[in-house]
Amino acid sequence: MNIAVLCSGNGTNLQAIIDSVKSGYVPAKIALVVSDNKSAFSLTRARTAGIETFVLDPKDFKTREEFDKEVVKNLKKKDVGLVVLAGFMRIISPYFIKEYKNRIINIHPALLPSFKGTRGIKDALDYGVKVTGPTAHFVDEKLDNGPIILQAAVEVKGDDTEEALSQRVHKAEHRIYPEAIKFFVEGRLKIEGRRVKIL
Ligand code: GRF
Repeated sequence: MNIAVLCSGNGTNLQAIIDSVKSGYVPAKIALVVSDNKSAFSLTRARTAGIETFVLDPKDFKTREEFDKEVVKNLKKKDVGLVVLAGFMRIISPYFIKEYKNRIINIHPALLPSFKGTRGIKDALDYGVKVTGPTAHFVDEKLDNGPIILQAAVEVKGDDTEEALSQRVHKAEHRIYPEAIKFFVEGRLKIEGRRVKIL
């Protein structure tokens, strides 16, 4: 199966996926890395791994849907069967979601449904939770809302800083995201309402 990874930033999750594909753990091909940020380090990671990249500047598009149409067109050209969001800092339009229904996944750095939004790690730390951790989930029309594939628990320590906790949450992301992708690619995920069965 061809997959595409959409990133805006550093791309440590992209790197974990690249490594998992290379080792054979994830039986897929990364056909395209898409970014809305031409200076994203994730693009350097992709190019170093010999993966084709596609960069779009949101300023060149009047609406979110026009931007997404261009993305979808290029995903289809590459026969992409799974869209992997990895630190992609844009909300996906209903058009995109319809075109790739139940074939878009995301990684969120908190245990959903807690701490949705862009500051999942800081919000969890500030709230004082004792356990947090990443969630791999399907993407639907609502923000950080789709059916959950995998989660991992990360303990919050008494003297944790945002940076220290981030490092441990990211480490857990790099473990569960390739695993979730592997399950999808192997056809082992079955969505039943809000629940995802792993076959
Ligand atoms: C991760 O923490 C992920 O949970 C969130 O964005 C961050 C991306 O990090 N959606 P990276 O670019 O993969 O290092």
